[in-house]
Amino acid sequence: MCGIIAYNGQDDAIPYLLEGIRNLEYRGYDSFGCAIDSPVGIIIKKDIGRVDDVINKYKIQNFSSNKAIFHTRWATHGGVKTENAHPMIDCMHRIAVAHNGIIENWAELKESLGTHKFISDTDTEVLSHLIEEKLSRGSDIQSAVKDTFNQIKGSSSFIVLDKQSEDLIAVKKGSPLVLGIAKNGNFLSSDVPSFVRHTNKVVYLSDGDMVVLGKRGYTITNLMNRDVNHDVSTVNLSAKHAEKGDYEHFMIKEIMEQLAQMKSLESADFGNVTRAAELVKNAKLVYLIGAGTSYHTALLGAKVLRENGIKSAAVQGQDLITYRNVISEDDVFIVISQSGETADIINAMPLISKNKKIGIINSEGSTLTKDVDIFIPIDAGPEKAVASTKSFTLSSVYVTLIAMFAAGKKEEALRDLKLLNINMYNLLVPSVLSAIDKAAEKIKGLEDVFFLGRDSDYIMALEGALKLKEVSYIHAEAIDAATFKHGPLALISDKTYAVALVSESTRNDTLYNLQEVKARGGNIIGVSDKNENVFDMFIRAQNGGAFGFVTQSIILQLLAYKTSILKGINPDRPKNLAKAVTTK
Ligand code: M6R
Repeated sequence: MCGIIAYNGQDDAIPYLLEGIRNLEYRGYDSFGCAIDSPVGIIIKKDIGRVDDVINKYKIQNFSSNKAIFHTRWATHGGVKTENAHPMIDCMHRIAVAHNGIIENWAELKESLGTHKFISDTDTEVLSHLIEEKLSRGSDIQSAVKDTFNQIKGSSSFIVLDKQSEDLIAVKKGSPLVLGIAKNGNFLSSDVPSFVRHTNKVVYLSDGDMVVLGKRGYTITNLMNRDVNHDVSTVNLSAKHAEKGDYEHFMIKEIMEQLAQMKSLESADFGNVTRAAELVKNAKLVYLIGAGTSYHTALLGAKVLRENGIKSAAVQGQDLITYRNVISEDDVFIVISQSGETADIINAMPLISKNKKIGIINSEGSTLTKDVDIFIPIDAGPEKAVASTKSFTLSSVYVTLIAMFAAGKKEEALRDLKLLNINMYNLLVPSVLSAIDKAAEKIKGLEDVFFLGRDSDYIMALEGALKLKEVSYIHAEAIDAATFKHGPLALISDKTYAVALVSESTRNDTLYNLQEVKARGGNIIGVSDKNENVFDMFIRAQNGGAFGFVTQSIILQLLAYKTSILKGINPDRPKNLAKAVTTK
């Protein structure tokens, strides 16, 4: 995925866009580029490297213009090279295009543009040349963009700057694009936090929308003939939500935010959870769909639903195709996603177009929110660190609430939320923090770490292993403690470390399995409410009630974060990763 932000208005666009693109860097950090409108034509500056490095190299802060587009790239098509950074221009240097998405039929389109001179390896470059081709045949810029949009396949949102036009033209399909309406001009951006300091009035664009963004106003038409809502919404988000504040990294800020977020759930209005529970209760089968961390939420939700007598299955988005012959119209789907833009999930949606869908999604206005019947906003606020933390625990709490409400256990659920908050209060005490530090100190030098647990402890082990992999580059593998004896035990020696999750309901069986590890010389870092003889190191996690997984998860997030810091890695921007995965 990539990040795009553009401004057209009466103010100087550059300070706005510098701030905005730094804010969008979580969406991609391979290279930065910009197109700045000027009296002498379009100025293009682009290079590989982190946003601030490229900005400083080309002294972008010294430019001034009322109209510009900035872009930060996560390479999908074409390597990390300056030529592949956006924006792309046409042969005559009349237009510049910044794009977020994938053009599936780029090869045939490129071939049809035989005489045009391409300088990059990207799919994006066909856009600037296609538009140029249409302009050369007499089209005006709006028709040229519209016809280009109709020719491309795949999910693509892009913004066009034409030096002969006062307007910026943008189209949205698949990848996110929102319109921000400010006092002296307007923004187009991949997300709201990137411009929220200047306006909280937004239009969440829909697929097929074409925006003509003038200096004073805008028009929106839908190129896919969809009847969509273009009302202006007022977002309840302040700039501080999108900033690190006093924290060194977004990841630690987002981990710590969970304490207040869990507390605020105690007074939440669960109207949409109640509606979702009604749907779930009457379903033939409930499928929970997610990817990565969100798939772990799906696993947890499916387990809690089954325990409450409701048939359910967790499926990774890309795997739903294998269920196509068994899905019935009476099945209900719970779609889980932080970003609401994950391609593996979006691509699965046509398979379930006739089914009722509940969305547990963090990003308001995102593609998936428009595809569900009941949208449960988890209200985690912007999650900027690549590793998902607060949205994991919040969405996991929401799936658990749906299951318990559906089983008629609303009072028990609300009581357990209170218990969770008592446990949260005792979670990050100095003894626990220093135990996490010691464990991270041990882990930082290892090449492999196992995460063990049974039942929901195993699901938290999966999530803990994923977090450690992402931000510390250590090979971490979660294995069900009961499965360990079926093969992986062969790997154990006195050099092996395993992080073991133990809770009340799993204690006896897991401890039995841990003895088998211990007997072969393995070292165990226990995460549990009680210290056990089998543990070599111990981190206390009070984990009672239906939401006990939250405290376990926060400890594992902190363990990953601390290990990352000790290894000198920036946990917010791990190599090779992007925050939302919009590729197949
Ligand atoms: O935005 P989504 O929740 O749909 O994203 C799914 C995964 O790409 C995401 O959870 C990924 O695994 C995270 N980097 C995990 O920390």
